[in-house]
Amino acid sequence: MPQHQVTVEGRGTFPVEEGTKLVLAIERNGVDISHRCGGQARCTTCRVEFLSDQPPMGTKEESCLDEDGVLGQFRLSCQIRVDREMRVRPLMLASDEGWDPGIEVED
Ligand code: FES
Repeated sequence: MPQHQVTVEGRGTFPVEEGTKLVLAIERNGVDISHRCGGQARCTTCRVEFLSDQPPMGTKEESCLDEDGVLGQFRLSCQIRVDREMRVRPLMLASDEGWDPGIEVED
């Protein structure tokens, strides 16, 4: 599988295998991003701001963000698979929120 560079602002740049869920790519590189619902597009705590071009949005992510009235404000890293170079800023770190990251996200 090809790899792509994923940069987490302030934390570094990491090679990530194509197809990896972005939330897992971030977490596996030592950043305590939240994922309270376990990657089900419900909690929105895996939210990230894209500092690079955004990948296309799937229907599950779009309806979750639309339902919450936050479409266009951030993306859900549990609904994005790494398919290009990405530069992101996680918006809800578990350590900042005072909770544990959440239910484990499956590959
Ligand atoms: S929406 Fe809950 S982990 Fe992504």
